Amino acid sequence: MSIKRMADLDLSGKRVLIRQDLNVPVKDGKVTSDIRIRASIPTIEQALGKGAGVILMSHLGRPVEGEYNTEYSLRPVADRLAELLGQPVRLEKQWLDGVVVNPGEVVLCENVRFNAGEKKNHAELGRKMAALCDIFVMDAFGTAHRAQASTHSVAQYAPTACAGPLLAKELDALGQALDNPKRPLMAIVGGSKVSTKLTVLESLSKKVDQLIVGGGIANTFIAAMGFNVGKSLYEEDLIAQAKKLIAEAKVAGGEIPIPVDVICAKEFSETAAATVKNVADVADDDMILDIGPQTAAQYAQQISSAGTIVWNGPVGVFEIAQFGAGTQSLAEAIADSSAFSIAGGGDTLAAIDKYGIKEKISYTSTGGGAFLEFLEGKELPAVAILRNKA
Ligand code: 3PG
Ligand code: MG
Repeated sequence: MSIKRMADLDLSGKRVLIRQDLNVPVKDGKVTSDIRIRASIPTIEQALGKGAGVILMSHLGRPVEGEYNTEYSLRPVADRLAELLGQPVRLEKQWLDGVVVNPGEVVLCENVRFNAGEKKNHAELGRKMAALCDIFVMDAFGTAHRAQASTHSVAQYAPTACAGPLLAKELDALGQALDNPKRPLMAIVGGSKVSTKLTVLESLSKKVDQLIVGGGIANTFIAAMGFNVGKSLYEEDLIAQAKKLIAEAKVAGGEIPIPVDVICAKEFSETAAATVKNVADVADDDMILDIGPQTAAQYAQQISSAGTIVWNGPVGVFEIAQFGAGTQSLAEAIADSSAFSIAGGGDTLAAIDKYGIKEKISYTSTGGGAFLEFLEGKELPAVAILRNKA
């Protein structure tokens, strides 16, 4: 890879701007899963060790652009970073017009998505970010599939742009693992964003031996098989696509199984009563919020005989106890399996954390969408710009 790497550059006395993916779940002002923050620490320590003044950028969630919103503040992230680094991390609310940073210091810029033009990759915004530094380090693998001002435009205008150690490690590890996977190759793709994962599903359905779908995605497949999904989250206009995917998987010798039983509730809440139902018995006022025990056992069985497992997305609303059993059972089956397992995605990492199986996953990626686009074989735009620069 003809990309400059941070490890090869002289950072001494330099202002080093590092784009990280510190987009982590936050509840009541506290970080609830810090895997991404912990993954960013070695990069920061390496830059500090080389004598740099470190300026960090990240997004958090999807706030309305152009306005500050406490709910999406990086404050909890700054606090956790400071704890892990054992040194102060100064959170700067106003940073676009300049940041003072001395060698050995760490400054965290408030949520990049509070700036108008971030998501549209505005050149002017990228120029301002670039002006903060001598060297720009792209280390946010989890956001490398986004061409946004803080991942793309900034790299274009920075005096020097390079890949950080985390980004480099992710690209190397995933590339190696997927080059020649041990079969059967199984992918588990869950989560609520059906339409956003369609191209990934298209590509995976042709490559893998088994594709297990979960969450809102599974509901669309359940509907495609002619079952009632009641009030469940699903996408009616994607039913035809789902049918096509099932057919394509068959042609390629694979399969996309549909849950035989599901966990339903009448409302989406922490106190909702959970009922196990056969997939054919879902009522008009039901919401499917997890896979049922029989389905979980069947998937666990398939997982146990896989050679390689790629996991992105929970299969149920695991944040709520009574809808978490399906995801927990899958997580434990993956942990117990002898397959080479790769997991990625914000919710997936949170589930891995929750069920305490991190040590039993062969490789945990900090990427969600980026991880999936990498699996699809797409070049990530934030990596492409580094290549162009080099
Ligand atoms: C993620 O969690 O998937 C990344 O941080 C990217 O976030 P986004 O999907 O809001 O761009
Ligand atoms: Mg995401």
